[in-house]
Order: sequence, then structure tokens, then C-alpha cells
Amino acid sequence: MYEFETIDLRRYEEYEQYIGLVRSEHSQNEKYCILSYGCQMNVHDSQIIAGMLEEMGYIEAENENDADVIILNTCCIRDHAEQRLFGVLGALKPRNSRREKIVGVCGCMSQQEASRLKMRRSFPFLNFLIGTQSIHHLPKAIYQSLRSKKTVVFVDEGKDNILENVPLAGGRELSSFVNVMYGCNNFCSYCVVPYVRGRERSREKAVIIDEVKRLVDAGAKEITLLGQNVNSYGGGGTAFAELISSINDINGLERIRFMTSHPKDMSDELISAFGSCSKLCEHLHLPMQSGSDTVLSAMNRKYNMEKYMSLVEKLRAVKPNIELSTDMIVGFPGETDKDFMDSVEAMKKIRFAFAFLFAFSPRKGTVAYTMPDAIDEAVKKERLAEIMAVQDSISKEISSSYIGKRVEVLSEGMNDDGVYVGKTRTNKKVFFENGCNTYGKLVTVEI
Ligand code: SAH
Ligand code: SF4
Ligand code: F3S
Repeated sequence: MYEFETIDLRRYEEYEQYIGLVRSEHSQNEKYCILSYGCQMNVHDSQIIAGMLEEMGYIEAENENDADVIILNTCCIRDHAEQRLFGVLGALKPRNSRREKIVGVCGCMSQQEASRLKMRRSFPFLNFLIGTQSIHHLPKAIYQSLRSKKTVVFVDEGKDNILENVPLAGGRELSSFVNVMYGCNNFCSYCVVPYVRGRERSREKAVIIDEVKRLVDAGAKEITLLGQNVNSYGGGGTAFAELISSINDINGLERIRFMTSHPKDMSDELISAFGSCSKLCEHLHLPMQSGSDTVLSAMNRKYNMEKYMSLVEKLRAVKPNIELSTDMIVGFPGETDKDFMDSVEAMKKIRFAFAFLFAFSPRKGTVAYTMPDAIDEAVKKERLAEIMAVQDSISKEISSSYIGKRVEVLSEGMNDDGVYVGKTRTNKKVFFENGCNTYGKLVTVEI
């Protein structure tokens, strides 16, 4: 049986102790800035990191130039993400050769040994590196790094945890994220996530419900349940559908969303929830990755196109107006012109409302890294441009089909340009006029 540790931050004495020590070290009004990269997991972790820094007495800076503490919360999903981060560190280097500021790196890159080595070698000015399972050590890392000329490293390997009772900065948003599970067991052959985020583990249902209630009391109208493989919550099957049904009963909450779902865990109960849970919005992000069975099999996705298409049909039978979105990878090793065209045809047939489209990026340590028949970079680029053009016109057609319709919009109030803004249940952004005092309200807008 896989075991993980639940760390209740309020009962973790070392945490409180170092919070106090850091507070006594710095002067008032010292500021922090977090640069967050990658997915919603990192966005959520950045909120926790910000909450911790505020407990240590730091206040949020306008930008990195104004900050005394800079934290980079990193992503390593594609090579591009890593190179960008090295670029940011390179730019910080000349300004920080004598450690004028405290600079630390958290997130998925810190969890990888090779990236850690490279960062320690090339950027010795770094105060600390903290892995994905170790953010509760942040106060200790800051305190120790103030006393050391070397980079302090906190990385727990093979020891996954769930942090509870964390401080969250912000926290009064109309639309809030709630993590329900962490990690991934799927080992898609191209993906580093299982290596940097650990095995799947779910939070207790009662703890999640309490958190949603608290967020709703603080003003949240929309909740997005988060997990790398969110629909395998509680082991998959019915547990996730039951969780949604319980959240659907919470008074004051208007909308529920969740991401990201794996097609293999899209149970009939979960599909039915789109019919039975009135707050569950008509949008589902269900990454297909490829439209070719050969490529799906090489990707270790554990479904074929027949299965994927049957999910699309079932979802549309339960909710005819549901909008689907996807992630797609082009240029996977061995992807033939025919395989690529299968992806394009599948996208034309399914008509996703939007898609995140990527060129395959080989990641060291994953199975696909050493696969033969790598696709030429130029071909990858061509395929990416082609599939983007196809999706672009589908997205535009779907958006245009809204013209003249009256839709329910959750108003987020006025933006900086003086225009009111909000989202439809299908996750479309809407700009509208005459939205006085509508913040947080459901309004009907004619498109
Ligand atoms: N857990 C989610 C998201 C994982 S990362 C899921 O399973 O869908 C987000 C997306 O990045 C993936 O869906 C995939 O399309 C893309 N991706 C992951 N690894 C990649 C790689 N090595 N090269 C290109 N794209 C990749
Ligand atoms: Fe990566 Fe696959 Fe897990 Fe998603 S399901 S995080 S793509 S291994
Ligand atoms: Fe990137 Fe880590 Fe998310 S690798 S996509 S930030 S889980």
C-alpha cells in the first residue's frame, strides 16, 4: 500500500519556530515577489508560498525590482519552460552577485536532480532550492540561507505529502481553486509530472468540503477542483462524482469546474453528474493528446480513439451544449503524416472549443526520451502551425455561434479599461456594458 504523509502546518512546530526566527531577522516593510510558471498546481503552490512569506512578515512587492525576496516557482514540462527559467536566472545574476536579495527556486525544476545541479553550478548566488514535497521548509530555508554562503537545498525524494492548514494569500477571490488530489500514476511516456510530483494521493472529502464552505463564506461563487489527474480522486470510479454531488449542495456556491481529467477515468457516474449537478458547468477539459491509436499507445495513454469518441458522445448526450477542450502533442516519435492527419481529422470531427497545442519536447528520464524515429524539428513546427490554424478557425466558428444568444455570465466587475468582464458557464470570456454593481452576480448578457 502506497503511503504518504499528511502535514498539518499548524501542528508542525519547526514551521512556527522558523517563522518566528525569520521575523526577528529582517526589518519591517521588506517585500517579496513570486514568479510563477507552469500549471495550476504551481499557481496554487505560489499562493501557499505567498501566504507563508506573509506569515514571516514580508509584504507583496509591486514587481521583482522592488522585492527583497524573489521566489521562482518553476515548471519543467517542456524544454522551453526550463530554458526560459535559465534566462530569468541569467538576468538576475549580475544584479545579485553579492546576494543583495534573497533568491530561491521552488517547484518542479528543483525536484529534478539534473536541473538542480545545473542551477547550483551556474547560479551560485541562489539562496535556496526547494522541491515540490518540501515547501513547508521554506521558513527554515530562508533562515539558514541567511547564515550560509552556499545554496541551501531541501528536496524530499520518494516521500510524498499533503500539506493541510496552509496559509493562502489572496483567498477572497470570486473564483477559487481547491486541490483535491496531488501527483500522478499514469506515466504517459512523454511526461515528467509523475517524476516531479509523486504518486497520486487524495485529500479527505470532509476537509475539502470544509475548505469550499470557507471559500464560499469569504465570497467565492465559483470553485475549480484541481488535480493532475483530478477524476481519479479517491481511486477513481464513483468517489469523484460523489464529491462533486456533495459540493453541489453547498449554499451560496454558483459554479463548479474541475481539471485536468484523464479519459481513462471518465466514469459513467462522472458523466451523469453533468446532468444531475446543476452547478457543474458545461465545459470539460479532456486532453486527447493524439488522434492516432498507434501514437496513443506509444504515449501510454491507456485509451484508443473509439473509447475517446464514445466519451464525447456520452457527454454530449447528457449535456448537448457542453464545450470540450483538449491538449494535443504533435511530432511524437514515430508520428507519421497519416498519424498527424488522424489528429487533425479528429479535431475537425469533435470540434473542441479550444485547445492547447504543443510540439513534442523530449524530457530526460521519460520513456519517450529514448524512443527511435524522432521527428525533425522543422516537421514538428509545420505540423504545429497546421493544427493551430485548424483549431483557430473552429474556435472562431464556435465563438461566433454565440452572437445573438442570451447567456449567463458571472460578473468579475470592471477591468482596467473600464469594461465589465465575466465568464459564461462554458468558460468563454464576455465583455459587456452597463454592469454597475454586478461584481459576483450572475447576469444575463446578449452577445
Ligand atoms: N495532467 C494533465 C496535464 C499535464 S501537463 C493531463 O494529464 O492532461 C499539460 C500538457 O502538456 C499535457 O496534457 C501534454 O499535452 C503536454 N505535455 C506534457 N509533456 C510534454 C512533452 N514532453 N512535450 C510536449 N508536450 C507535453
Ligand atoms: Fe502527465 Fe499523463 Fe499524468 Fe497528465 S496523466 S500528468 S500527461 S503522466
Ligand atoms: Fe509544469 Fe510541474 Fe505543472 S512540470 S506543468 S508546473 S506539475
